[in-house]
Amino acid sequence: MRLQKQKQPYVLGHRGASGYAPENTMESFKMALEMNCDGVELDVQMSKDGELVIIHDETIDRTSDGTGWVKDLTFQQLREFNYNKTHPEYQHCDIPKLDEVLSLFKGTNKIINIEFKTAIIKYPGIVCKVMDLVDEYDMNNQVIYSSFNHQHCVDVLDRQPDAYVGFLYEDGFLEVIDYVKRHNGTALHPALYLVEGAEWVKEAKEKGLEINTWTVNLPEHMEIACQLGLTSIITNYPDVAMKIVEKYK
Ligand code: G3P
Ligand code: CA
Repeated sequence: MRLQKQKQPYVLGHRGASGYAPENTMESFKMALEMNCDGVELDVQMSKDGELVIIHDETIDRTSDGTGWVKDLTFQQLREFNYNKTHPEYQHCDIPKLDEVLSLFKGTNKIINIEFKTAIIKYPGIVCKVMDLVDEYDMNNQVIYSSFNHQHCVDVLDRQPDAYVGFLYEDGFLEVIDYVKRHNGTALHPALYLVEGAEWVKEAKEKGLEINTWTVNLPEHMEIACQLGLTSIITNYPDVAMKIVEKYK
C-alpha cells in the first residue's frame, strides 16, 4: 500500500483524538472517526494471557486508576481498571482490544497505524498475532505498521513484503534514508523536531520513501509539515490539522 499523493498530507489522530478524549480508548478512536480525519495511530501490547491490547506505556499507572505491568495482568484484570486518567472528565473508559478497534474501522476508508510498542518488552509472537488479526479482518489495505523496534518492522516485511511499514526514530540516527530503503521500509516516521527545516526530506521523497511525522500539535508545525509536502501528520488534534491541511489542497 502507498498513500495517494493527491490527498497529502493525511491527518492521523495520535492515540485517537487524544487531545480531547482519554488516549488509546474507544472513546478517543470514535471521536477521531467522527472528526472524519484520515485515520488513527495506536499502540499495541500484549496482556499476560496473550490478548492484544491498546495502551502506550508498558505499565497501566499513568493512564488508569490501577498499577502494574501490562505483561503481568490478564485481560480480565486489565479491564477492571478505568483508563480515563488523561481526561478525567470522562467517567469510565476501558482498555480496548485490537479487534475492537479494527471492528470500529472495518468498512471505512480510514487508516489504522498500528505501532508495536515493543522497545522494552519483546512480547513473544506479537507481530504474527497482530498480522493474523488484520488478515482475519481483511484490512491489510488500511493498515500502516510501525515500531521503534526495527526488528519488528523487518519481521512484518518478512511475512508480507508489500505491507506498509514505517520505521520510527528519534534523535541520533545516521543515514536513515539508506537504512530504511535497505530494509524495504515504506516510510520514515521521524519525531517532528527532526523534520523542521530538514534538507533530507527532498532526498527521502526522491528515493520513494513516504514521511509520516509525530506528534504535530501546534498549528505552526502543521503548516511546516504541509509546506514540506510530508505524507502524514500524526496529531492529538486532528480537527485542527484538517483545517490547516485543507488550505494546501
Ligand atoms: O507513532 C508515532 C508516535 O506515537 C511515537 O511515539 O511515544 O507517542 O508512541 P509515542
Ligand atoms: Ca505511538
